[in-house]
Amino acid sequence: MNKLDSAIVESSLRDAGYQFADNAKDADVVLINTCSVRDHAEQRVMSHLGNLKHIKESRPDLVVGVIGCMAQRLGSELLKQSAVDIVCGPAQIAEIPRLITEAMQEKKKAVAVTEKIRQISPNAQSLERFETEYSGDDTDIPAQAYVRAMHGCDKFCSYCVVPYVRGPETSRPPEAIIEQTKRLAQNGIKQITLLGQRINAYEYKAGDKTYCLADLLKMISEIDGVEWLKFVTSYPSKKYFKEIMQAMAELPKVCRYLHIPAQSGSDQILKAMNRGYTSAEYLELLYIARQIVPDIAIAGDFIVGFPGETDDDFAQTVKLVKKARHKNSFIFKYSPRPGTIADKRLENNVPQEIKERRNHELLKVQEEISRALAAEFTGQTVKVLVEGPSKKSHQVDNLPQLIGRTAGDWITVFNGPETLAGRFANVKITRTTPLTLFGERV
Ligand code: 5AD
Ligand code: SF4
Repeated sequence: MNKLDSAIVESSLRDAGYQFADNAKDADVVLINTCSVRDHAEQRVMSHLGNLKHIKESRPDLVVGVIGCMAQRLGSELLKQSAVDIVCGPAQIAEIPRLITEAMQEKKKAVAVTEKIRQISPNAQSLERFETEYSGDDTDIPAQAYVRAMHGCDKFCSYCVVPYVRGPETSRPPEAIIEQTKRLAQNGIKQITLLGQRINAYEYKAGDKTYCLADLLKMISEIDGVEWLKFVTSYPSKKYFKEIMQAMAELPKVCRYLHIPAQSGSDQILKAMNRGYTSAEYLELLYIARQIVPDIAIAGDFIVGFPGETDDDFAQTVKLVKKARHKNSFIFKYSPRPGTIADKRLENNVPQEIKERRNHELLKVQEEISRALAAEFTGQTVKVLVEGPSKKSHQVDNLPQLIGRTAGDWITVFNGPETLAGRFANVKITRTTPLTLFGERV
């Protein structure tokens, strides 16, 4: 979501005539797009602001903006950080070009956040217009673009700040999504990733017809130029699940990849998290997914150290991970978020070292599963969308090391010309590690 917001803001500023600098020292304006999901991300922003304060001492004209969820969460409180001139929440990003102009010309500090975030934003229309104009420039991966299908979230999982900073769950009209996707495809975008906090809950009523994600996948599949279509993130819920899996099985452009966070394997903890399913129900969904799409790649998220999580609760999570056999899992240590139900009602009572230990242990269990799943690719040829040179690029026959991803989101490393970035390549896998496939271009 944040990457998309950054790309939209970047593209709008370019349209307004701004040029982009390589680092903060050379810039007249610095915007930091922020995440509030865990405290660590917010702490990093605070330390960036500390550095910017030093730069600003010698260059008082520098304009600094904090945008995104942390801006929405903290609002004018952020102005206490002396470096900050602009505070702009995710529903107000359409105002950024104007806020920057005012800050530069009138030396005015400004806060643009949504006062009552749980009510439909009065900015919804201007945001929608701003968003539909986005034409796929400034993506961080060539030929791939995100398209928001939904805003916000209504689930209120007890640990989660998202409903408080991104507001109520709303689905964008299918015609806006289609129009935007067509424009992206005309601009050379080959992979579309539909975004929503609960993308499988997408629902749009128009007349007697109710569109769900499966309908959206069908409609987007018909757009020329779109070759791969992904969607994140799915919520473990039965509603529309079979329809979506069926669409994945039937539509060749839809990538056989499902990111479906479990968060915990303990039914007691899942209840305290307000997730609304049991570990057995979660596993049943994976079973259904694999029945309908046998080669589906499934990824998960877990939180360790949620308030009250006992050794036994954690053992249940380990058990779930072993049964679920995700291709990979993102594992997080519980971080209390101000304003959430868990923070208000439950004590953050799992000591830090136990969170660390459980995090480490769960990662090791997942690593063995990922290792085995990755190894199955040895000898196979996979199709990847090439992202560009890898960071630790070492050359073979004067060709740089490139990084790409399969339709199932497996990171693939091989050597080839840099001109392949943004194009598809076939790679024969010769060696694997738990998170990466290595091979040669064929
Ligand atoms: N603490 C730790 N992890 C969290 N997540 C969301 N909120 C928190 C929190 N308060 C994790 C969940 C979610 C992912 C995006 O971040 O696993 O799926
Ligand atoms: Fe947060 Fe739960 Fe909504 Fe996901 S579904 S964004 S975890 S409240």
